[in-house]
Amino acid sequence: MKISFCCTDFKAEPWLAGLRAALPQAEIEVWTPGAPAADYAVVWAPPQAFIDEQPNIKAVFNLGAGVDALTQLKLPPQMKLVRLDDAGMSVQMAEYVVHALIRHFREFDHYERDVVQGKWSYRRPRLREEFPVGIMGLGVLGQRVAQAVAQFEFPVLGWSRSPKTVDGVRCFAGAAQLPEFLAETKVLVCLLPLTTETQGILNRTTLAQLQPGGYVINVARGAHLVEEDLIELLDSDHLAGAALDVFRQEPLPAGHPFWRHPKITVTPHTAARTLRDESVAQIAQKIMRLERGEPIAGVVDHIRGY
Ligand code: NAP
Ligand code: GLV
Repeated sequence: MKISFCCTDFKAEPWLAGLRAALPQAEIEVWTPGAPAADYAVVWAPPQAFIDEQPNIKAVFNLGAGVDALTQLKLPPQMKLVRLDDAGMSVQMAEYVVHALIRHFREFDHYERDVVQGKWSYRRPRLREEFPVGIMGLGVLGQRVAQAVAQFEFPVLGWSRSPKTVDGVRCFAGAAQLPEFLAETKVLVCLLPLTTETQGILNRTTLAQLQPGGYVINVARGAHLVEEDLIELLDSDHLAGAALDVFRQEPLPAGHPFWRHPKITVTPHTAARTLRDESVAQIAQKIMRLERGEPIAGVVDHIRGY
């Protein structure tokens, strides 16, 4: 069995070593243009040439949960794409969102500024009932985040494409229920995949529907957000702030207004990192299942785009 590794942004050697240890029967090499076709591929943001040269590969494993870098390529419709299914990411995402939420709710950002000035002053306690948290995307990561937020006794709402029942979460689904979901949300968390339907979904019209003093946590993809609309709603004080982990251009360019905006907290696409051991174990297990003709979870639906 041949496995081709084609990952921009990842140092190949430790991944090759991990995959070789987990699948000793496989020949695993870094892809170079013109290399013989492989049976399986492990990729992150591969070039179009990679796909074009091996259209009949049995499965392409993406080293992330979001597959938008793949779905924007021209793909043969039968090509099996497999996303990472948690693999240690959901608990990291829960940490990130709970941290951003609590930092805002408890006003720790104000205390941090006060400390710099040597100032000892209290903020009035806020009511968590007045901070309902709405999570867009109730998939692998969204549901884990919902569970973590509910542990801190915030009201939790969730929005997905298809109707869902999740313990402790008021669930909304589809475009028809989006306005009601937004109107009842104060802290909005985006955990949607980037698709043609969700691109630009955080815009002037949707964000204006959040409760006054709303807060936005975007941990999905930069292209979900219309950046100038966010700035406008922050500057008009409809929104109180935003924690942004993902951006239309990454790294966020020097001089971008987000870096210095007093109501925006920026992190460098680090909310939920791909963990090597967990990912290798999951991919190896799925390859062995496919070799035995068994079904696997996490296969991307080309039509839905996630
Ligand atoms: P997932 O399991 O595929 O869940 C996606 C959720 O979004 C599902 O609930 C789905 O609804 C919903 N959805 C999709 N299209 C929709 C639409 N048009 N309207 C309403 N809901 C829609 O994905 P995941 O594993 O939770 O990951 C979510 C995203 O997080 C990834 O795609 C990636 O972009 C991002 N991510 C970011 C980082 C980071 O470090 N910042 C790390 C990992 C992942 P249904 O349940 O009805 O299908
Ligand atoms: C990271 O952004 C991922 O999609 O896993």
